[in-house]
Amino acid sequence: MPNLASRWDRLSDGFDSPWRLRRALARAFCSPVARAVLVAGGVRVGTGAQFFGIPIVRRYAGSRIEIGAHVDFRSWPASNVLGLAHPVMLTTMAPNALISIGDGVGLSGTTIAAAERVVIGKGAVIGADVIITDNDHHVVGAGLSQPGIAPVRHGPVEIGEEVFVGARALILKGVQIGPRAVVGAGAVVTRSVPAGTIVAGNPARVVGWVMGDEHGTGEQP
Ligand SMILES: CC(C)(COP(=O)(O)OP(=O)(O)OC[C@H]1O[C@@H](n2cnc3c(N)ncnc32)[C@H](O)[C@@H]1OP(=O)(O)O)[C@@H](O)C(=O)NCCC(=O)NCCS
Repeated sequence: MPNLASRWDRLSDGFDSPWRLRRALARAFCSPVARAVLVAGGVRVGTGAQFFGIPIVRRYAGSRIEIGAHVDFRSWPASNVLGLAHPVMLTTMAPNALISIGDGVGLSGTTIAAAERVVIGKGAVIGADVIITDNDHHVVGAGLSQPGIAPVRHGPVEIGEEVFVGARALILKGVQIGPRAVVGAGAVVTRSVPAGTIVAGNPARVVGWVMGDEHGTGEQP
C-alpha cells in the first residue's frame, strides 16, 4: 500500500525547494549514463546507485574499484548545498590497489586515492570536498627530486559503518575510523579514531562522543 501522506510531503517539499526537484530530474537522466561510464572503466557498481554528475574515475590496470548498492555520488557543483569544487574523483595508483565503497554511502565531490586500500563502510556520509588518501604521493625527505630512489609511504585507510565526515576534512594514510565516529569539518586526520567519538581540528583530536557511545561502548578500530 503506497504511503500517500509521505508522497504528498515529498511533493510539497519539492514545491518549497524547487532546486531539489530540478536536481532529482537531472539525476534520473544522469545516473544510467554515469553507471555506463563507470562499468565501461571496469568499476563494479551496485544496484540503485544515484549519480548527480559523472565522477572522474582512473583505475590502474589490475586494481579494483567496487561501489555498493544505493550509493549517492554528488559531482555537480550545485548538487550539494555547500557547493563542490570538483566531481567525485576515484583513483587507484597500483595494480593491487582497492577502493571499496559500501552500500548506501554518500560522497560529495570527494577525492579518494589508493595505492594500497581505501575501504568505506556501509552508510557512511562523506561531506563536501573531503580528501581521503592512503599514501603521501611523494617521497618525504631524501629522494624527493629523484623519483623511484626511495619508497612513497602508504598505509590502508578504513572508514567504519555510519561514520560522518564533515566538509573539507583530510584523511591521511594508515587511518582507521571506527563505526559511528564523526570527523569535524576541516579536520586533518592523521591517527586512527575510536568508534563513536567526535574528532576535530588539525591534527584531529577527540572533542566529544556520539550520543549512546559516551560510556566507551564503541569498539576500537
Ligand atoms: C564535529 C561537529 C559535528 C561537532 O558538533 P558538536 O558536537 O555540536 O560539537 P561542539 O560545537 O559542541 O564542539 C565541541 C568542541 O569541538 C570544537 N569543534 C567542533 N567542530 C570543530 C571543527 N570542525 N574544527 C575544530 N574544532 C571543532 C568546538 O570548538 C568545541 O571546542 P571547545 O569545547 O574547546 O569549545 C561539528 O562541529 C562539525 O564540524 N560538523 C560538520 C558539518 C559539515 O561539514 N557537514 C557536511 C556538509 S556536506
